[in-house]
Amino acid sequence: MLNVAVLISGAGSNLRAFLEAAAEADYPAHVVAVGADRDAAGLAHADDFGIPSFSVPYTSYPTRAAWGEELAVQLRAWDPDLIVLSGLMRLLPDNVVAEFAPRIINTHPAYLPEFPGAHGVRDALASGATRTGASVIQVDGGVDTGPILAQERVEIEPGDTESTLHDRIKPVERRLLIDVVRRIAAGDLAFS
Ligand code: GAR
Repeated sequence: MLNVAVLISGAGSNLRAFLEAAAEADYPAHVVAVGADRDAAGLAHADDFGIPSFSVPYTSYPTRAAWGEELAVQLRAWDPDLIVLSGLMRLLPDNVVAEFAPRIINTHPAYLPEFPGAHGVRDALASGATRTGASVIQVDGGVDTGPILAQERVEIEPGDTESTLHDRIKPVERRLLIDVVRRIAAGDLAFS
């Protein structure tokens, strides 16, 4: 059984889908804790599933490095085999990447390396592209620059808004995430 810690910033709809998958008897991963960089609404999903949660509010620390030190303390306490960034809207500090990589993965609402960063859906729409996508990547020190583990295209429809497009991308992200974690747990996806 793979022990997974999940980090979020927002509503946590992808987290919820992952928790539902992990609750299935034959799913080979278990969520040990859910953490957030703020008082995120999505932490309530952890409560619903009886999973411990923690918050390390970014704005309570004087520097990114200080925030990272406390985040590492919290993560270490759960001894995760894998950390999933599921809508964590901050760049992980160097100390966290150094300690836990390569066992950190991130979901992203675009077909990387296209449209990295905090506004992947908005940027795809603004570019005039006719298709975008969803990706699951391994986290390195950069902004969505790590090795791609899975990705899939999503068409941009005429009249799409950021919201309608994101709503079509998220179910793809969820499916990719659930599959990637299953493959990692099965040893089918080697990390280097
Ligand atoms: C997801 O689309 C995730 O890929 C994205 O935030 C959303 C979180 O939604 N993350 C990023 O854009 C990171 N650069 P949720 O809180 O409803 O799961």
